Amino acid sequence: MTIDRLFHNNNDAVDFTFNDQVAEVFDDMLARSVPCYRQVIDMSGKLLEAFVRDGDLIYDLGCSTGRPLIALAEILKSKKVRYIGMDNSEAMINKARLKALMYSRHNQIDFDLADITSAPLEPCRTVLLNYTLQFLRPVSRAPFLKKIYEALQPGGILILSEKIISPHSCLNRCFIQAYLDFKRGQGYSEIEITKKREALENILIPFSIAENRDLLAAAGFTSCETFFQWFNFVSFAAVKE
Ligand SMILES: C[S@@+](CC[C@H](N)C(=O)[O-])C[C@H]1O[C@@H](n2cnc3c(N)ncnc32)[C@H](O)[C@@H]1O
Repeated sequence: MTIDRLFHNNNDAVDFTFNDQVAEVFDDMLARSVPCYRQVIDMSGKLLEAFVRDGDLIYDLGCSTGRPLIALAEILKSKKVRYIGMDNSEAMINKARLKALMYSRHNQIDFDLADITSAPLEPCRTVLLNYTLQFLRPVSRAPFLKKIYEALQPGGILILSEKIISPHSCLNRCFIQAYLDFKRGQGYSEIEITKKREALENILIPFSIAENRDLLAAAGFTSCETFFQWFNFVSFAAVKE
């Protein structure tokens, strides 16, 4: 795995994009920037064991380098499931396809280069949408979640993970502090942390838990629970009844 040193040099800030350089270090970046990244995948697998049936289709929208689907295919190996990962970064999709080949999952998992907001979705039982909604323009989030709701079959489940903000300013500061400490603990320097934060300004726009819940409810999801929270990182499970 290539170590993430993208923001190591004190260069002028540029907006964050999911380009070749980011794709190259992305697995390391996720592991060191998203608290409990692997744990959330394993917990999702645990949840899905109860939902997934033979013949199901599982989407991962904003799949980046494909790690969640490769892991899920292993966790759910007793089920005959088809997987589709979608991402609009060619560099990410190329890495994901290579990984599927390396893990001999290429016959079971397709990785498609596509814009998730406009690509049609086949009827499916599960959609993963992890740390990606936060990168979509706020106005496009409601229609996008509605599209997912419509693609899901009754009994289907959406797993949504997001960085969140707290409306409580003191708690919000504590959450951010805990996250900064997490990043320091992962070996990121103050310069790297500051530069990345500047690069993500206005690119990653987090909503609160309540705002995300409202969006899910407006899309049609009447049942929604959080199944994971680490300070300002939250995972929701929303079911289409
Ligand atoms: C933080 S990463 C997602 C991480 C991934 N879900 C995981 O759990 O490993 C966000 C991904 O969303 C993709 N993305 C952002 N906007 C997109 C869009 N409109 N269509 C498709 N992919 C998009 C980016 O290219 C990037 O790979």
